[in-house]
Order: sequence, then structure tokens, then C-alpha cells
Amino acid sequence: MSYNLLEGKKGIIFGALDEKSIAWKVAMRAKEEGAEFVLTNAPLAMRMGEINKLAEACNAQIIPADATSVEDLENLFAKAQEILGGKIDFVLHSIGMSPNIRKGKSYGDLNYDWFMKTLDVSALSFHKVMHVAEKMDAMNEWGSVVALSYIAAQRVFPDYTDMSQAKALLESIARNYGYRLGLQKKIRVNTISQSPTKTTAGTGVGGFDVFYDYADKMSPLGNASAEACADYTITLFSDLTKMVTMQNLMHDGGFSSMGISEGVIDMIQK
Ligand code: NAI
Repeated sequence: MSYNLLEGKKGIIFGALDEKSIAWKVAMRAKEEGAEFVLTNAPLAMRMGEINKLAEACNAQIIPADATSVEDLENLFAKAQEILGGKIDFVLHSIGMSPNIRKGKSYGDLNYDWFMKTLDVSALSFHKVMHVAEKMDAMNEWGSVVALSYIAAQRVFPDYTDMSQAKALLESIARNYGYRLGLQKKIRVNTISQSPTKTTAGTGVGGFDVFYDYADKMSPLGNASAEACADYTITLFSDLTKMVTMQNLMHDGGFSSMGISEGVIDMIQK
């Protein structure tokens, strides 16, 4: 159902890899709500070509950019404004990658070059996106910037290894840039802390199926789906949440407020 919440708004959506991606669902919902936007992803990720289907469905253009490259981001913001015919109202940062997780390294055996890569791709890229947007004065007043986080920023999930630190850094960047962009242009910056979700990045984490089921049993509403995450993201891009900024917003079916649940007790007693 569409409410025209994003009528007339222009955006940049990072991170749609395939139709399971959270960014993919956000793009589809943003289109339904009347937004115009460009899609972007790392040049390597585009070789799979899936994003072309999304671009067609959303009547959106694709601009490749490695989010760790300031030069690529400058090109992206310049081209996006050209294509969309004006400044940007919303940005979705839906990017995460850890070479240590990919290679199955445990927390006590991390490769530090890879650790730096994890932080650069999954967190510093968020800083760089806002740095470029600010320097180029590329966003409209009352714009909205959202990145996706995970509760391992606050609690221990052993298999999430260096991504836990990346998410803590990401959330801190949201607060600090939120202050800066809020003062300058009333732009709000938030992170959404999402339930485990069956995507390429999500299922790459060791033991994913177990903590997916655990979180589902622990949460009174169950795990939040990627579609529900897209709905929530749309509200944050809309004018209905203009005064929400510098927050890490839990979108987890209640998981973060739980100690133990009957569902989990049943699981253990079995
Ligand atoms: P996904 O694998 O579909 O998306 C990750 C995206 O990051 C991909 O499109 C990938 O190409 C992009 N990316 C990687 N390196 C990049 C670079 N250098 N420059 C530009 N883009 C790059 O997976 P998902 O789950 O949709 O991930 C989106 C966000 O949601 C990530 O920040 C992830 O950590 C977060 N998240 C995911 C959860 C899950 O369980 N799937 C739970 C909570 C948060």
C-alpha cells in the first residue's frame, strides 16, 4: 500500500546486491512511495548484474561507486544530482563486509589488514558518504540519512567478530555527523538496528541459522523481515520523522528488551 510519503523526494540507495538485499526492498518501497533515486554499489558487486533488474523495475539509473573511495563518492553525488535534477533528500547506507568473517577467522585470530578493511567498508564509508555530501553541499534541508546496524554493536555475538566493532563505529559516526548536519542543514542521521535477516551478508556469518532462530524465539513479535525494515526506513526518509536524529533505532521485534522468553526456555528444555 502506498501513502505517497516520498513524493517529490530524491535519493541515493547504496547496497542492493540481489533481491534478498535490504536495500533492494527499500528501493522497491521508495519507488512505490513516489521517490526518484539512483542506485549504487561497488563495481565488483555489479558484475553479477542483478541490480539491472531493480533499476528497470524502479526506473532508476545505476552509478557504480566503491563506498571506501572519496573520489568515487564525489562522482556519485555529482552524477546523482545531475540525473535527478537537484539536491538529494535521502541516503541509504546498506553496506557491510568483513574479510575475516568471509574467511572464517575467529575473534582471537583476526587478520588486522582485513580488520581495517572491515572498518573501512562497513563504517568509515558512512563517514565518507556524509563528508562528501557536506563538502559538495549536495543535500537539501530536512534531508535524512540512514545506515543499517546490528545489536552486536552493544552485545556479544561471538561469530560476528570484527563486524561488532564496525557497527559500534557506524553508530558513533551517525551520532557525530547527526550533530554536524543537524546544525548546518537540519539533516537527520540515524541507524536502524535490524533483526538477523536472510541475505548474502547475513547468512555469511558463522552460525547464522542458530542465532536467527534464537532471535526469532526471543522476540515477542519474531524477527523483523527485510520488507518490514524497508517500511521503517521509508518512515525515516519521510517528513513524518523530521525531529528524529542521532539515534540507533531498534527494529527487532522486541529482541533488545528481552532477558529470556518462554520460547527460548522451551528450546533449551527440549
Ligand atoms: P547484502 O549482502 O545484500 O548487502 C551488503 C551490500 O554491501 C552489498 O550490496 C555489497 O555489494 C555492498 N558492499 C560491500 N562492499 C562495498 C563497497 N566497498 N562499496 C559499496 N558497497 C559495498 O546484505 P544485507 O543484509 O542487505 O546488508 C545490508 C546492511 O544491513 C549491512 O550494513 C548489514 O550489516 C546490515 N544488517 C544486516 C543484517 C542481516 O542479518 N542480514 C542484520 C542487521 C544489519
